[in-house]
Amino acid sequence: MTQSTISLTALRPDHLEGALRLSRQAGWPHRLEDWQLALDLSAGFVALDTNASTVVGTILMTPYKRDVATVNMVIVDEAARGRGLGRKLMEAIIEQAGLRALRLVATGEGLPLYQKLGFFRTGTIIQHQGTVLPVATPANVRPAESHDIFGILELDRSAFGADRRCLLRTLAEVGQLAVLDRGQGIAGFAMSRGFGRGEVIGPVVAANVDDGKALLSFFMARSEGRFVRVDTAETAQLSAWLAERGLIQVGDGIAMQRPVAVQSSPSTFTTFALASQAFG
Ligand SMILES: CC(C)(COP(=O)(O)OP(=O)(O)OC[C@H]1O[C@@H](n2cnc3c(N)ncnc32)[C@H](O)[C@@H]1OP(=O)(O)O)[C@@H](O)C(=O)NCCC(=O)NCCS
Repeated sequence: MTQSTISLTALRPDHLEGALRLSRQAGWPHRLEDWQLALDLSAGFVALDTNASTVVGTILMTPYKRDVATVNMVIVDEAARGRGLGRKLMEAIIEQAGLRALRLVATGEGLPLYQKLGFFRTGTIIQHQGTVLPVATPANVRPAESHDIFGILELDRSAFGADRRCLLRTLAEVGQLAVLDRGQGIAGFAMSRGFGRGEVIGPVVAANVDDGKALLSFFMARSEGRFVRVDTAETAQLSAWLAERGLIQVGDGIAMQRPVAVQSSPSTFTTFALASQAFG
């Protein structure tokens, strides 16, 4: 395979089997339906080896209105690495993103590429997963009702710093939503859905770590004995608590942004678990 036989084109549904081959090769747990969901919410490119018509590279950009986008599913076939294809995919997506601030969660392999393209480290994301041990069902957390969606969107916008209504409405169609409700309006929310080898809990948005634990406990209690994943910021200080309940730390990633993060006014709400490393 030579660079001259490789061309970039828009990632379409008929490329997803080839994309799935690459994510499996990279050891990622995505199923075809996880790729499909990502594509529904995103736009991106595949690198095609035109001789063999095989997908040898992928990249997606998930836009949140005009302000922010996450860059995800950045993969180059093992056989094609180290020859500038990762950079080519990144340059194409940066152009497509326009003026949006870009966020991503980098692997150690991707880090040098992102640094060279002007991304700055903003934190560490810790991946927890495992079989859920018994967890007490928390008080004041209930399944969300349709009228809660407006409060949920507002909390998420406050914690994430951009309007993610398209993402949250789509995830709500394939998963479940719960809210923390002490009778004075919703004080936090959590979401759970099928992903990879089992389920993922996230996003989880709350005002403090105890509320975050209550929201996580709601879905963990329902998933006792099942395989669950939670991606959480190191600063959320949930790692020991999650590990005691069966979700051990299995890896970490580097949260990055381009251009350098602007210090916005601090929010009352924090994202205690990500929707996924891809979506932030
Ligand atoms: C990350 C990945 C996409 C990079 O793809 P690639 O085609 O090998 O990348 P490139 O050949 O374009 O190299 C990118 C740049 O990083 C540099 N680089 C790579 N490894 C480096 C290292 N260890 N130290 C310093 N620079 C390094 C290259 O020199 C190149 O810089 P240049 O463009 O200025 O010459 C690929 O390794 C991959 O698919 N890894 C597995 C999946 C993964 O982890 N994806 C990232 C998810 S966030």
